[in-house]
Amino acid sequence: MKLSVFPNYRLLSEKASDEIIQMVQKKPTAVLCFASGDTPRLCYQLFVEKAKAAKIDFSAISFVGLDEWVGIPPSNEGSCHFFLNNLVLKHLNFSNANIHLFDGMSDDPIQECRKMDQFLHEKGGVDLMLVGVGMNGHIGFNEPGISSHYYSHLVELHNTTTSVGQKYFKDATSLKLGITLGLNHLLEAKEVLMLANGLKKALVIKKALEENISDQMPASIIRTHPNSEVMIDEEAASMLRS
Ligand code: F6R
Repeated sequence: MKLSVFPNYRLLSEKASDEIIQMVQKKPTAVLCFASGDTPRLCYQLFVEKAKAAKIDFSAISFVGLDEWVGIPPSNEGSCHFFLNNLVLKHLNFSNANIHLFDGMSDDPIQECRKMDQFLHEKGGVDLMLVGVGMNGHIGFNEPGISSHYYSHLVELHNTTTSVGQKYFKDATSLKLGITLGLNHLLEAKEVLMLANGLKKALVIKKALEENISDQMPASIIRTHPNSEVMIDEEAASMLRS
């Protein structure tokens, strides 16, 4: 794992967007997996701008969403589907057949997990996974206590996730379950970027990077990945020892 600390959120987002650009330029059939959330917002905007300016062809690039709230339709702007479509997918010439997002409205979320795992298996796994880190150390919806041996699975969301998650929704929203790629997908991804910014992430970053690697702190697993980069701003790095 490599740790990179940037002076501010903008420079962090610039560098992360460059990494994605490099991947899609190097491998026109790459499989991308992106988290939703506030952290990567600017990175995705910059990525789309740069991809358009460089006229990159996305028709053979595949894309999967990292996770989704169960029971939230794609039309709801708090859904991961809405977020990813709005920030990334609709701006680039992806082929619909190469996009796979969890359907949070499915009657059979277990089947949704199988479909995601099958899609990724057929594509040869994720080339570049970009994740954030939750206030409780989750990655995707891999909550504290989750085994790192899982692929896609259904999750009972922790209180921190359901309360912090309200920030994505216009109105108070009942959030109970999530559907997510597993940490095994992360461990098998060829490259992983984990982004965090702001003082509010400083403690969780300290725990993830300086305490024991543990199921109780899912973000700590990134330290076992041979080709991972933790990209944080100075605020998020402010509690680290050195
Ligand atoms: C969202 C996701 C979550 C977020 C995390 C941080 O798709 O996978 O794990 O990355 O909760 O969220 P923000 O970036 O809003 O602080």
